[in-house]
Amino acid sequence: MNYTIDDILERIDKLPTLNSVAFEVINLCSEDEISLSQLVRVISNDQSLASQVLKVANSSYFNYPRKIYSLERAVVVMGLNLLRDIALSIAIFSLYKGLKVNRNFDMIAFWGHTLKTGYAARVLADQFAPAHKDVLYIGGLLHDIGKLVLLKILQEDYIFVLEKSKQEEEPLIEVERQLLGFTHADIGGELLDMWKLPESVVSMVQLHHLDGNSMNGQAHLPWGRVVYLANIFAHLLESEERNLEKVNQIDPNFTKHFSFTDGEIAHMVELIEIEIAENQDLMSILQA
Ligand SMILES: [Fe+2]
Ligand SMILES: [Fe+2]
Repeated sequence: MNYTIDDILERIDKLPTLNSVAFEVINLCSEDEISLSQLVRVISNDQSLASQVLKVANSSYFNYPRKIYSLERAVVVMGLNLLRDIALSIAIFSLYKGLKVNRNFDMIAFWGHTLKTGYAARVLADQFAPAHKDVLYIGGLLHDIGKLVLLKILQEDYIFVLEKSKQEEEPLIEVERQLLGFTHADIGGELLDMWKLPESVVSMVQLHHLDGNSMNGQAHLPWGRVVYLANIFAHLLESEERNLEKVNQIDPNFTKHFSFTDGEIAHMVELIEIEIAENQDLMSILQA
């Protein structure tokens, strides 16, 4: 295949631009301290986002006895954390909708993997970066966005790359390097940079496979490592085995980066599983 990263970047112009409310919500939630009044202002500025938040507030998930008509009321009932989660998930989901690919790509599985990685990053943040749960959640939710860009732009050629990786059981990132010369992590980072998302989010997406030459000196490498783990554990959750052997199949370089025991891996996966189970109902409402 004969593409350069610039070919893709030139064509990125043809992708939908970032919805400005999604941008504001992501930016606001990437900050360490988030202000309730600012979040409510951003949500109220967008009719569709506001009505989706109210739809969730009025869903059977919360089971409130009276209908909630205003965002202010929704905030009182749901609390800031939940409101922020819902607004963030809806905003990021809208990015994926904008990149919708027509081919027979399993979007539902993709979104499921994305959510699992988001929750995994949030759980792992407790251990590795407790003050930065929200931005790590965002990194988890956006980590593979480059795959959608490549599907949208390269179409059949990228389907070929995906299938080759599956059939030959070779990590996708390796097959991308061989056939394209760059990876979905590179492209994802470029897109988010073009959309002017915070540098921390761009770096996490670029670094989520801990691959490439540009890793040294990266200020956000510790967060990239968390999203890397979150991605691996999301894959583990989808498999029967949850041990180092399976992890090594997913990424043969894992032991170069981490030295966890089987017991430590099983424990982290278990915590992630609990977090996902707790959020299952909310997620099904958001996806509906
Ligand atoms: Fe990835
Ligand atoms: Fe992934």
